[in-house]
Amino acid sequence: MTHSLKGRDLISIADLSKPEIQDVLTQAAQFEQRLARGETMHLCEGRILATVFYEPSTRTRLSFESAMHRLGGRIISVAEARTSSSAAKGETIEDSARMLAAYADVIVQRHPAVGSARALADAADVPVINAGDGTGEHPTQALLDLYTIEREKGGLDGLQIAMVGDLKNGRTVHSLAKALAHWRVTLDFVSPPELAMPARLVDELQEQGVRVHQTDDMQAALAEADVAYITRIQQERFVSPDEYLRYKGVYVITAEVVRQAKPGIVVLHPLPRVDEIATDVDALPNAAYFRQARNGVYVRMALLAMVLGAV
Ligand code: CP
Repeated sequence: MTHSLKGRDLISIADLSKPEIQDVLTQAAQFEQRLARGETMHLCEGRILATVFYEPSTRTRLSFESAMHRLGGRIISVAEARTSSSAAKGETIEDSARMLAAYADVIVQRHPAVGSARALADAADVPVINAGDGTGEHPTQALLDLYTIEREKGGLDGLQIAMVGDLKNGRTVHSLAKALAHWRVTLDFVSPPELAMPARLVDELQEQGVRVHQTDDMQAALAEADVAYITRIQQERFVSPDEYLRYKGVYVITAEVVRQAKPGIVVLHPLPRVDEIATDVDALPNAAYFRQARNGVYVRMALLAMVLGAV
């Protein structure tokens, strides 16, 4: 029997039920173990993944491509799609979708416009996975974040999780907050007031029974938090360099900040970091962000295998 995710798109983390999310995490753990044993897998042999990225990426694109290779499949890839694909000649997302669907069995797209993944999926007759649509969502990052938190803390229920940084424009925190609403968690949103989590999302979370606190005081939040999810102030989302400079460096985690935080706090970051986590944190056992990025391969293997009906 194939999984309910076979043939499905993943545009928002809200597209997945809690049992479906748990299935992805369970499958990811199995793939992690099989890779650790040195197994070679052929589950996606004969299948092709297209990765099309209109915005820069290291982790998402390469971990999806690594995942497909690990499953025995093949990839076709367009990095810098804004200038190197026929989008530069004016081709629409819809026409691009028809072409990509003719060449691949599953498409992973990153694009600067909110709603672009939905537009691609509506015009493509193969599964489309959203690898980030502007300030909208990044659902596969949320899956690997959940996987990492479970791994680091032993479960999700009962945790207090602080999300720190540009919560207004941060697609990773939008998806992760929605995903965590399936569990019994408390969320502390730490940002300057101008970069607060969108009010509509806060309302939705509270309607679902999530306890939400909003503050600009990072150290006070970290004194209570089991997990600190730090995010970058994203230069590319501001209208002017001056506006970016107003917020750059507003929150910086150092080893001293971690020492003053709740004992055992796990520090996560979707990466890339700029200056918001000092390198003296890297050697602390609390620093889980590089393990988090590695987990992306296992989680994306699980997702690809499931939407392709290979498990
Ligand atoms: N976390 C993340 O999306 O990283 P990249 O921008 O490098 O893909």
